Amino acid sequence: MAQNKPESEGGHEVFNTKLKGLRNQSKLGGGEKRIEAQHGKGKMTARERIDALMDEGSFQEINGLMTSRHTDFGLDKEKFPGDGIVAGFGKINGRRVCVYAQDFTIMGGSFGEVAGQKVCRIMDLAMDAGVPVIGLNDGGGARIQEGIFSLYAYGEVFYRNTLASGVVPQISVILGPCAGGAVYSPALTDFIVMTKGISNMFITGPEVIKTVTHEEVDTETLGGAMAHAATSGVAHFAVENEKEALQTVRDLLDYLPANNKESAPMAEITDDPWRMDKELDSLVPSNPSEGYDMKDIITRVCDQGSFMEIMSNFAQNSIIGFARLHGQSVGIVAQQPLFMAGAIDIDAADKMARFVRFCDAFNVPIVTFSDSPGFLPGVSQEHNGIIRHGAKIVYAFSEASVPKLTVVTRKGYGGAYIVMSSKHIHSDMVFAWPGAEIAVMGAEGAVAILYRKEIAEKADPVEARKQLVAEFREKFSNPYIAAGAGFVDDVIFPHETRPRLIAALELLRDKQTQMPAKKHGCMPL
Ligand code: HXC
Repeated sequence: MAQNKPESEGGHEVFNTKLKGLRNQSKLGGGEKRIEAQHGKGKMTARERIDALMDEGSFQEINGLMTSRHTDFGLDKEKFPGDGIVAGFGKINGRRVCVYAQDFTIMGGSFGEVAGQKVCRIMDLAMDAGVPVIGLNDGGGARIQEGIFSLYAYGEVFYRNTLASGVVPQISVILGPCAGGAVYSPALTDFIVMTKGISNMFITGPEVIKTVTHEEVDTETLGGAMAHAATSGVAHFAVENEKEALQTVRDLLDYLPANNKESAPMAEITDDPWRMDKELDSLVPSNPSEGYDMKDIITRVCDQGSFMEIMSNFAQNSIIGFARLHGQSVGIVAQQPLFMAGAIDIDAADKMARFVRFCDAFNVPIVTFSDSPGFLPGVSQEHNGIIRHGAKIVYAFSEASVPKLTVVTRKGYGGAYIVMSSKHIHSDMVFAWPGAEIAVMGAEGAVAILYRKEIAEKADPVEARKQLVAEFREKFSNPYIAAGAGFVDDVIFPHETRPRLIAALELLRDKQTQMPAKKHGCMPL
């Protein structure tokens, strides 16, 4: 069914009048004045947002007449049918979704018992129907007047976010305030989109922080879109305005299956599977210390215009996102030699591991582009737990049972090579480019350790070191020892990457793997 039929009426005038009145009241939310105030802040209302998000005319509202039963602190005079949440289902790009939006015009979108019941109902429906659920957040947190009933409401939502995790995709859009414990519902979902300048998320606001730690900070710096997209890693997208935020959700859903039983969707095929981009052959500099843009490789290999980067401002030494190969939706995981030479640090480890788990939960094959010089050295990295965080990548790639394809574009050094979906942790297909250096470590480092004494004793230690480095590089810094051992499946010319990946994906489309029976593993968190 594509669109709503126009409003229809029953036969009895008296019934019609009552229902029409209630519907109109529900549609008006907190009233004209508050709608004006909402617009005055540059924000859409909950209903306008839902209309902008969904396919035209597809939204079917439910529980629009639910009303709070609370009466304390003047709540007996604040009765609104719908009570601060607009909830329902409909379609995005022709595919079914469930959605809810906090209505800031009703008591600042504060979240009480009815709000909780409505959100839980829509999440239960989404799980039963096997469709994604999208939450549009803009509210002042727990409805203070409802006391612990608000806490109960939030708790039930958190519980359902957890149950729904890995069952249906969950997306949160933050379009206004989202503070206190309220942040934990979005935090439990798969993707968070925030609007710059107007949305914010924090556990405790500037005033509390000032009292407790004497730090002075404004709301935007503390918990605005860029704070979370670039620094904390809480948000996956920071966008300019509400329209862009809602469009981001529509775009994102195109790459995802509706639930964990479906395969990742196929898009219309728009690019030649045999396209071989000769520019790829010269993108990686011959000098191993020189950087290059891994995104250039990703966009040339994948279907043209299909790469959608996620968390582009956070841990930029790593890259994650969705793309398509011959129409098939895939998850891309990569290192970015332009930032910190692509070394893996704590943030990059968290970012990549979480994304790998999402792809695995929702049957999205993973393509890894690896240029792995090592884990980032440093006292702060060690003391903040790079061991614990780095272990997440190994864990995530090892347990992922979706098709896993890997391309080693240049360095593959030591542990950081193993963790980036190498053959040793059971990637299905590993290709290396001819300039790949798969070794325990780089030539400079290896020579410094192996020949420290010999070099010191030479008449010209600089020349001696240079010669040993050249010898080591010639012998070990190449892909052929790994290829000879079967640790890479083939050494390929860079321009062959696209057809080779597409063929491997086609082979592995119905991949079956048996994992040992367990309740769940104990991932190092
Ligand atoms: C009840 C609330 C409310 C709330 C706002 N309102 N927050 N009503 N409970 N939590 C009401 C206001 O009283 C006001 O009503 C209307 O909503 C609009 O609010 P304004 O303050 O006029 O709007 P604005 O200036 O835009 O500021 C928005 C705001 C601010 C930043 C959200 O209202 C605010 O700081 N609210 C309190 C936030 C908070 O501390 N929440 C509780 C967090 S604790 P009138 O009738 O005057 O227009 C929490 C625990 C959750 O959430 C734990 C879950 C596990």
